[in-house]
Amino acid sequence: MESSVAAGPGRIVATLDDGQRVLDETRTRMLDGDVEAAYRDLVRVLFDLRWRLGERSWGTFVEDVAPAHPLFALLGQDPMIRHCRAKPRGYAGDARLLDMIYDGVSAVADEPMSELGRRLFDCGFRAAPSRAVRERAGRLSRAIDACAAGGGTRVLAVACGHLRELEHAISVREGSIERFVALDQDAASLAVVDERYGHLGIETVPRGVRELLRRPAPDERFDLVYAAGLYDYLGASFAHRLTAALFDRLAPGGQLLVANFMPSNPSIGHMDAMMQWPLIYRTPLEMEALIDADDTATVDVCADSVGVVTDLRITRV
Ligand SMILES: C[S@@+](CC[C@H](N)C(=O)[O-])C[C@H]1O[C@@H](n2cnc3c(N)ncnc32)[C@H](O)[C@@H]1O
Repeated sequence: MESSVAAGPGRIVATLDDGQRVLDETRTRMLDGDVEAAYRDLVRVLFDLRWRLGERSWGTFVEDVAPAHPLFALLGQDPMIRHCRAKPRGYAGDARLLDMIYDGVSAVADEPMSELGRRLFDCGFRAAPSRAVRERAGRLSRAIDACAAGGGTRVLAVACGHLRELEHAISVREGSIERFVALDQDAASLAVVDERYGHLGIETVPRGVRELLRRPAPDERFDLVYAAGLYDYLGASFAHRLTAALFDRLAPGGQLLVANFMPSNPSIGHMDAMMQWPLIYRTPLEMEALIDADDTATVDVCADSVGVVTDLRITRV
């Protein structure tokens, strides 16, 4: 399949015809039952095609070529892909989508699904971005527990979605966190949080992060502030200002943790074109640039074990 893009020896630049051929071949293989291998190859080839086409032609491929191809409709049998494209909350990676990534097929038990749809769903569930999102939630749970173990008791989760990291945060279940504030602009997501975790004392706040920029930081300071699955949608200038506003809410010794997908995400082309899930990707260096380092902060950036998500950790000295 690689030969579809690298059509001539040493040829780097691809054309939209190359992209069309990739989609044709993938569809044929999937209809022949070769679903998992064809999916894996498609993801790999689209990663390549994205940079071989260049920004402009890739845009045409994503907006016009891929959606018009019959493979696009075929992949729509996967509830994860279908939900991403439908964007019921106005953007692709909402909290419901993340529940599919966290819980797998049990999250879509109430949806009609063909055999092909189920196999495609499994491919997506096992793919690098899904593993990275689950690993990211694990890091958040551990950060909450570490905060409690260090004597910190006030946590602010920004753009919390369904707050699924609480599933594994032992300190919250043990009642060791004095105040846990979960902020999101989406009232429906917060209703899920109230229902699932309200008994643990979680306070939900229906608010967009833009308001955190407008208001002066309240007197209360937090020992841990974190945002996952938010910065991937924020432009550089807003992300920079928000980072400063979140840092302002840290108590001395407190930590701000911000996660972002990296451009090394091997599914970047597949997410762009087939899921219609564009993100703002950041390198570790770009993450570091989100804060103007001075002697009130120590900054650390690290990548996950999947090579998909990078965390920026800022500690107030
Ligand atoms: C991809 S989900 C991530 C949810 C959760 N943090 C996680 O990692 O599972 C993104 C969440 O960000 C919220 N969100 C997006 N833009 C926001 C904004 N401007 N202000 C507050 N919340 C926002 C959405 O409502 C959604 O719940």
